[in-house]
Amino acid sequence: MRVGVPCETAFGENRVAVTDKSVAQLRRLGYDVVVEQGAGLKAGFTDAAYQAAGAATVARADAWGADIVLRVGTPDTEEFALLSPQATLIGFLDPRFNTEIVARCAAAGITALSMDMIPRTSRAQSMDALSSMANISGYRAVVEAVHAFGRFLGGQVTAAGKVPPANVFIVGTGVAGLAAIGVAGNLGAVVRATDVRPETAEQVESMGAVFVAAATTERDQGVSADGYAKETSADYNARAAMLYAEQVKWADIVVTTAAIPGKPSPKLITAEMVATMAPGSVIVDLAATGGGNCELTEPGVSYVTANGVAIIGYTDMASRLAGQSSQLYARNVANLVALMTPHSDGQLQVDFDDDIIRTATITKAGEVTFPPPPVQVSVAPSAAVSPVPTPAPAPTPESPPAKPPRPWLLDVAIVAVLSVGLTYLLSFAPAPVLGSLAVFALATVAGYYVVWNVTSALHTPLMSLSNAISGIIIVGAMTQLASPSWPIRILAVLAVVVATVNVVGGFVVTNRMVSMFKRA
Ligand code: NAI
Repeated sequence: MRVGVPCETAFGENRVAVTDKSVAQLRRLGYDVVVEQGAGLKAGFTDAAYQAAGAATVARADAWGADIVLRVGTPDTEEFALLSPQATLIGFLDPRFNTEIVARCAAAGITALSMDMIPRTSRAQSMDALSSMANISGYRAVVEAVHAFGRFLGGQVTAAGKVPPANVFIVGTGVAGLAAIGVAGNLGAVVRATDVRPETAEQVESMGAVFVAAATTERDQGVSADGYAKETSADYNARAAMLYAEQVKWADIVVTTAAIPGKPSPKLITAEMVATMAPGSVIVDLAATGGGNCELTEPGVSYVTANGVAIIGYTDMASRLAGQSSQLYARNVANLVALMTPHSDGQLQVDFDDDIIRTATITKAGEVTFPPPPVQVSVAPSAAVSPVPTPAPAPTPESPPAKPPRPWLLDVAIVAVLSVGLTYLLSFAPAPVLGSLAVFALATVAGYYVVWNVTSALHTPLMSLSNAISGIIIVGAMTQLASPSWPIRILAVLAVVVATVNVVGGFVVTNRMVSMFKRA
């Protein structure tokens, strides 16, 4: 089969659906690849690079006439007419919002797979183009904000005076929001973030930002059964509005990314809140694509309000980093094609037993297959922990009878018996044992507070480094190596070997973890 890659024709679209590397991957899967002349130029991929990777560069009609057409955006009417009747089209077709597209693909008799329909499951991660693009958009949002802000993000003390760090507030801590937190934090800003899903607090904090939550008594507010956000209640919205009013006023830069799949973006930031921001502040509304999280956002436009706040509503953030986004998108698309080519024989199979292929397919040989059956996504929350204390629910008549609490007298009796028993035993113990027990008790208390005050993301390096404490075992065992008793000597050798493995292993694990954060 032949894979064709036409130029993107939508206004402002700089991306391309293949790179030289993905051409090579498609060739290894047994496909011939044809790329329209100049298709990759705006993303930095020349015709020569495609040819060197094994593709032919061809005229427009030849690229559209291929068996499989790879695109970034939706084809227009004229482009649809260029598709061959048995073609398979793969691209961002957006069937949830673009209601016409399904009918068009069906009328053309083609098979169409939409990259925005790839489910967010672990197995589909390498094909998840929405996440790839959201990651880039979160990065770019901060770059755009800094450009419009006109001040440093990090605080500095200079000969000319002290510069305070900028305050950045991120709304929605999904893929784009977390990427924005990372970039703003790296540039030295003070970052706060919020999300309707409280389980994201740990991720936010592990990135050095502060998670702020709307005070609510509703548990699992905003979390749907599949782990994505759902629409929030009026009570929650009223409480959240107070949080936004406070945080927006505090912030120099606000990046909003709040989205509910398949729904228009929730309106979270009002005109009154924008009026409280200092002149020179910036709002980047990534949710502009779905209408915007800020009342004043104009999708696709950047402008400055009467009180001097820049509001950026670009809907093409990923395209503004075309080289990088083409690289990731091309990889996502090629991975999908690889999944659909199980025998690497250049033959595409639309296997509906595979939930990724089934979910992404919106028409199969002209038959409408959208919407797909629901897929349980991997982001489903485990028992979510509310960031605000939640009162216990009042017992309802249907509730199972609660376990009767243990009588407090029983607790007192257990403690008393244990204390008397321990005191009796200690009265016979030699003096050094008492000292050791005291040290042990103190170490337990100190260890408990030290470990629980370290963020959980650092527990592994902390524990592996604390393995070094085994060094004391090595010292003790070495003193016994010269013992006249051979069982003691054997035990001493064993102790030295095992403790050495523990210490060295701890450092190896720590080194591995630390090297994950090193720049290449
Ligand atoms: P995501 O689904 O991973 O994250 C969205 C987050 O918003 C979720 O964590 C969700 O819990 C949260 N959220 C939903 N309702 C909320 C509410 N009422 N209050 C607080 N948080 C709420 O989505 P992803 O992939 O990070 O994308 C974010 C947005 O960026 C989407 O709207 C997407 O369309 C947009 N986007 C925009 C681009 C552009 O060029 N402007 C490019 C790529 C993505």
